[in-house]
Amino acid sequence: MTLSRRHLLRATAGGVLLAPFVAGCSSVRGGGNAETESSAGAVLRSAVPLPTAFTVPLPIPPVLRPTRTDHDTDYYEITQRIGHAQIVPGLRTEVWGYNGIFPGPTIQSRRGRRTVVRHRNELPTPVVIHLHGGRTPPEHDGYPTDLITPMGGNAHPGHAGSGAQGTRDYRYPLDQPAATLWYHDHRMDFTGPQVYKGLAGFHLLHDDLEEALPLPKGERDVPLMITDRSFAEDGSMSYPAIDPSLTGQPGVTTDFISGVLGDCVLVNGAPWPVMEVTNTRYRFRILNASNARRYRLALDPSPPAGSSFVQIGSDQGLLAQPVGHEQLQIAQAERFDVVIDFSAYSVGDEVTLVNQLGKSGTANVMGFVVVRGGTDDSRIPDKLAEIQPLSRSDAVVERELTFERHGAVMHGVTPWTVNGEPFSPEHITADPAFGTVELWKLRAQNVPHPIHIHLAPFQIQNPGPYAGGWKDTVDLASGDQAEVLLRFDSYRGKYVFHCHNLEHEDMMMANFEIR
Ligand code: C2O
Ligand code: CU
Ligand code: CU
Repeated sequence: MTLSRRHLLRATAGGVLLAPFVAGCSSVRGGGNAETESSAGAVLRSAVPLPTAFTVPLPIPPVLRPTRTDHDTDYYEITQRIGHAQIVPGLRTEVWGYNGIFPGPTIQSRRGRRTVVRHRNELPTPVVIHLHGGRTPPEHDGYPTDLITPMGGNAHPGHAGSGAQGTRDYRYPLDQPAATLWYHDHRMDFTGPQVYKGLAGFHLLHDDLEEALPLPKGERDVPLMITDRSFAEDGSMSYPAIDPSLTGQPGVTTDFISGVLGDCVLVNGAPWPVMEVTNTRYRFRILNASNARRYRLALDPSPPAGSSFVQIGSDQGLLAQPVGHEQLQIAQAERFDVVIDFSAYSVGDEVTLVNQLGKSGTANVMGFVVVRGGTDDSRIPDKLAEIQPLSRSDAVVERELTFERHGAVMHGVTPWTVNGEPFSPEHITADPAFGTVELWKLRAQNVPHPIHIHLAPFQIQNPGPYAGGWKDTVDLASGDQAEVLLRFDSYRGKYVFHCHNLEHEDMMMANFEIR
């Protein structure tokens, strides 16, 4: 039984309890769904009845404690291993997790201190860890072929690369403004399935400037990792990998070549969870960690006064000034740091975070219930951060980069490419000079592509309502072009940029080398 979004709206608008619904269905897959208009990909249907929405409390990923600290560095250890989660009633879901959990533990760093994370790979395949949004020296950035092979040998790396056996340390200087960063797998040819199985976590960076602002803090500063997943008969996350062992041929079956869309929305790993709030302001660090799904988030009902969301930050940290939104359009890997003011609601109200681009189950994300009054000394200042605007005249080089499906059939499919070429670790597409600013014209063809550039933060020229501030990922609709101004001032070396639709990424990727 599926409740349509309209029914659900009516139920909540009338003040009735949030209508629980079951959005399960037993067909195996459905291409050609209308959802494909807003997200590239096909919906993979779950084979089991899905959980009832708004019943599970929102989990908060545990904060990882350093194993030791010294005068300038905090040391952490993470073991990547198989774990189990309770997501679908009565079934156990296997996850590949950082410390066996999905999402992984949250790392909290402070600008001015170095963070070192020792990763141990107890999974059956090689892994690579990338700190998304981090300004990291190239050897610690998680280049796709810098593999950590499994503990105990027995590696089946699909590609040769430099790498480590079993364990390695990633060193993060984190000399950059406070921001919501995240870490995830980046293994050559297998990023999509390995992230889907659970290899993603938050890494929050703090600094004195952010801390001095009177924004909501502590328990009212909440990370929200949104993902969509589908479930197989045995409760496992289903994924249409050509080789489900992830040791042989990479890629997905042809129906899903444009992207894998799940039919169950998880927030912090829980299906359509619910969070109890006081009638005060909360800060939410929203991350879309889905493989292929884009969302347009809104509150239902929207508050009787004020904006639904006041955006205070973007991918790379705080905005110059807050921006009010009624909707938030969020592509894969983007982060929106927002404040929701629940004082506009009454105690007892139930508010749903909806996805206006979804259908039936995917039209909902999570619920909030305003359970009681609370005191609130938080405030959103008119001025948040100093952002030096880059201008076109700062750019010393212009480049055109087109993301499209193009060229000769490989493994039975037309590959996703950058400027007509699928990824090759050897080929350098751009070679910016250290210390300069460049203008890159990024163009998307065929379907939407969220483009992510490692290392170098950028500003979007003539940004739409959602794209202000310093960004590391830009959402492009099919046929769109964005002009971004990038500053290459942190490290020299070879890095990648790519589409963050994880089914496109391993092909739709290219190198740049800062010289
Ligand atoms: Cu979030 Cu290269 O990735
Ligand atoms: Cu990145
Ligand atoms: Cu893409």
